[in-house]
Amino acid sequence: MWVFKQSNQMSAWAHGKNSGFVPTMGFLHEGHLSLVRRAKNENDVAVASIFVNPAQFGPAEDFDAYPHDLDRDLNMLEKEGVDAVFTPSVQELYPNGPEITVRAGPLSLPLEGQFRPGHFDGVCTVVKKLFDVVQPETAYFGQKDFQQFLVIQEMVQSMKLGVNVVVCPTIREIDGLAKSSRNVYFSNQERKKAPLLYSALREAEKKLVQGKKPRHVENEAKLFLEENGFRVQYFRVASAETLEPVSKPEGRVLVAAAAFLGKTRLVDNVVFVV
Ligand code: PAJ
Repeated sequence: MWVFKQSNQMSAWAHGKNSGFVPTMGFLHEGHLSLVRRAKNENDVAVASIFVNPAQFGPAEDFDAYPHDLDRDLNMLEKEGVDAVFTPSVQELYPNGPEITVRAGPLSLPLEGQFRPGHFDGVCTVVKKLFDVVQPETAYFGQKDFQQFLVIQEMVQSMKLGVNVVVCPTIREIDGLAKSSRNVYFSNQERKKAPLLYSALREAEKKLVQGKKPRHVENEAKLFLEENGFRVQYFRVASAETLEPVSKPEGRVLVAAAAFLGKTRLVDNVVFVV
């Protein structure tokens, strides 16, 4: 497995190859590996990147604390048969600091955009740079961050990047908690409560399918979560295409939520057809 720290070396290797690409911030888990397996199965070569992107963290967020273990990550990727890994430094990807950036489109404004201003600008900026270096045929993203997938798809279409963007199912622990690099932050007690976010999302899905009003379903879910010690930022029923709130669910529906449990912020969602 090739490991490249320099953009020009990564580009030279990738040039002319049909590659499937999985961008990550490392501290890998089964969620990341599920994307890597898709990339490997569906393309001639599989490329992953590991880069904790400072531009997508807010000033009060966990950039400095973000967990990392590069040796472990590289071992996991090698076992999956990944062909090349791009592990640039901040200096390598941002040689002029954050001077030239991409502004994310309208799909970045609701949900996460209300609570993490600038976050998706940072995501789009780094994903654009990574796509330019790796020049993938297809890039793979997780449904866990469903809005991120939509925002990247919007950027790719608008800027004519010519990359296929594929979304893959959320991988979960046995108790329903979505796998996340940030799950290591939980205390034992918080870890026991954490799956209730997914329970609330599934319960909301059930009620919406039965015809209950989105506003009621949202309020009941928020109350349930607050009673269980979560600080809910949003719990929203929306169109899975436009992210606009819906008063009567029809077609592909997204229920997306973000909540703090102690100091740790959880995000999760379900997508279904009504
Ligand atoms: P990161 O959080 O490391 O996630 C990398 C990819 O793995 C994303 O597409 C994410 O949605 C996916 N993923 C995370 N947990 C998952 C799970 N439980 N099941 C399935 N897929 C999962 O997302 C980022 O990094 C960054 O924003 C990045 C796109 C790399 C840009 O910096």
